[in-house]
Amino acid sequence: MSMTHTEIAPFADRQAGFSHLRALADRMDGRRITPLFAADPARAARFTARFDDLSLDVSKSSIDDVALQALFGLAATAGLDDFRRRLFAGEPVNTTEHRAAMHMALRAPEDSGLQAILPHGSDDAAAMAGDERARMRRFVVAVHDRHIRGFTGQVFTDVLSIGIGGSDLGPRVATEALTIGRSDAKLTPHFLSNVDGHAFLEATRGLDPARTLVLVASKTFTTQETAMNAAAARAWIVAALGEQAVASHFVALSTNVKAVAAFGINPDRVFAFQDWVGGRYSLWSPVGLVIPLAVGWEKFQQMLDGAWSMDCHFRDAPWQQNLPVLLGLTGIWHTNALGCATQCILAYDERLRRLPAHLQQLEMESNGKHVMLSGAPTGWDTGPILFGEPGTNAQHSFMQLVHQGTRTVPVDFILAANADHDRPDAHRALAANAFAQAEALMHGRSEATIRADMAARGIAAPEIDAIAPHRVAPGERPSNTIMFTRLDPFSLGRLIALYEHKVAVQGCLWGIDSFDQWGVELGKQLASGILPELTPDAAKDHRHDASTNALIERFLSLRGES
Ligand code: F6P
Repeated sequence: MSMTHTEIAPFADRQAGFSHLRALADRMDGRRITPLFAADPARAARFTARFDDLSLDVSKSSIDDVALQALFGLAATAGLDDFRRRLFAGEPVNTTEHRAAMHMALRAPEDSGLQAILPHGSDDAAAMAGDERARMRRFVVAVHDRHIRGFTGQVFTDVLSIGIGGSDLGPRVATEALTIGRSDAKLTPHFLSNVDGHAFLEATRGLDPARTLVLVASKTFTTQETAMNAAAARAWIVAALGEQAVASHFVALSTNVKAVAAFGINPDRVFAFQDWVGGRYSLWSPVGLVIPLAVGWEKFQQMLDGAWSMDCHFRDAPWQQNLPVLLGLTGIWHTNALGCATQCILAYDERLRRLPAHLQQLEMESNGKHVMLSGAPTGWDTGPILFGEPGTNAQHSFMQLVHQGTRTVPVDFILAANADHDRPDAHRALAANAFAQAEALMHGRSEATIRADMAARGIAAPEIDAIAPHRVAPGERPSNTIMFTRLDPFSLGRLIALYEHKVAVQGCLWGIDSFDQWGVELGKQLASGILPELTPDAAKDHRHDASTNALIERFLSLRGES
C-alpha cells in the first residue's frame, strides 16, 4: 500500500481524531468510492497490501490518501506503536484483569523469549507453552499410534470436544476448515457446547462410548454449560463402560487444575495453560487439542506456524504494509467516519462456514465495550455487530439488504484462489460470485441504466416507471477482499491471527480493554439464581421483576409443575 503523503500527524486527542474522520466523510463525495477509481488509475494497486501470498484489497472503500493519513494520525494519537510493543512485551494490556494477552506465545518457537508479565514476576510464556505443546504432541501421537486406547482396549475412532465460547468456536472452525471435504481425519471430531439436552443427544448419537475420547475444554472449569455437559458425558461413559473407564476416556484442558482434579480426571490427562491466554484466543492452546487429534500433529503445527508468521508481520511491518493495521483502520473508518453499525464476513469457502461465529466472539466480546481504560465513557462508537455466512449462500438470503437496504454494511470477502477438489468449474463460479458481489456493491445500478435496459427489451413506459425504482442498486457500498493461494493449515492460522490482531488494533484506537468480557458475567449470575426456582417444589415467592416472575410461573405451568 502506498500513500502519496507519508507524514503522520497525531491529533490533540482521540475525540479530535474521530471528529476529523467524520468531517472527512462529510466532504462532498466523502462516502463515494467510484470517483476515487476514476481519479486514480493506480488505486487498486495502491490500496492493496500484501504479506507473502496473502493480499488485502481495501480499495473498494471511500478511504483516500487524506482519510488514510487521518487514520494513521489517529493511530499515532492512540499510541498504536507503544501498544504493539507492550502487547509483545507481555505487559498487562488486559488492564481490568491485570493480565497480559500473550496468546502469541502459544504459536511462537519455544526459544523466542516471549514473556508474560505477572503481578509478581513473569512467565517464560513461550517456553511454558512449548513444554505443554510437547506433552500434547506425545499424547496425540500415542492416540494415533494406538498406544493410548479406550478402557476396553478398543482404539479411539471419535473425539468429542465439550466446551463453549472460546473453548468451542475456535477449535471448531479450525477443525472443520481442515476436515470438510476430506476423508483422512484421524479421529472423527464431534463438538458439544450448548447446555440444551438436544445438543447432547445429537453430539453422542451413533457414537460408541468404548471408542470415544472425551475432551473437556474450559479455561475456568466453572462454566455451567460445560460442567453439565461434562457430567452428562461422564454418566454416558459410566453407563456403558463403568466408573473405572472415566480415567481412560476423559481429558481436561484448563487453567484451573484444582477444579479438574475435583472432577476426577487423571493429572496425566490434564493439559494446562495460563491466564495470559484469553478464552477467545485459546484455540492455539491445549483447548485446541481436538484439532491435532482430528487432523494430525503436523497440520496443527503448520497452523501455529501460520499464526506466528502473522504475529511477526504485525509486530514488525510498518503501518502502510501491515495487514492487521490496515484492516483495523478500514473498520474504524466504516464505524466511526461513516457510522456503520455492522460488519459482514463472507468467506467464499464452505470449509470456513463457522468463521463468522468465531469472529463474532472474537470481535464482539473483545470490542463490545462502552468505557475506556480509564472507566470514562468512550464518546464514540466501538465494535460493530458482526454477522456472516459462507458465499454464495449469503447471496440468496441477506445480501438483498446489503445491496439495496437503507443501511451501509461493510463486507469482508475472503477467498482462496485454489480449491482442494476436482471441480475447477465450481471454484471458478464461486470466485466469480465473490468478485461480482463486491463489484455490484460498489457500482450498483442506476435508474437511467435500468430504464434504458427495460426500454431496449420493449417494455412499456408505464411498467418501466413502476418497476425501475425498485431495481435501483445505489452502489458506493464498501468491501474489502482478502485472498490467498490455498486454504491449508498455515494459511488458516495466518487468517485467524490476522483478525485477532485487527481486533487489538481497533481496541487500541478506541481506547478500550479488548481482552476482558465483564458484560457476559451478569447473565451468568442471574441464570444461576433463577435455576433453583425452575423446579416443581421451589418456593413461589420469586423476587424478580413482574415480567420475569410471570415467565417463571408460565414455564412451570406449561410443564404442569406449578
Ligand atoms: O461467557 C463468556 C466466556 O467466559 C468466554 O469468554 C469464554 O470463551 C467462554 O465463556 C467459556 O469459558 P471457559 O473456557 O472458562 O469455560
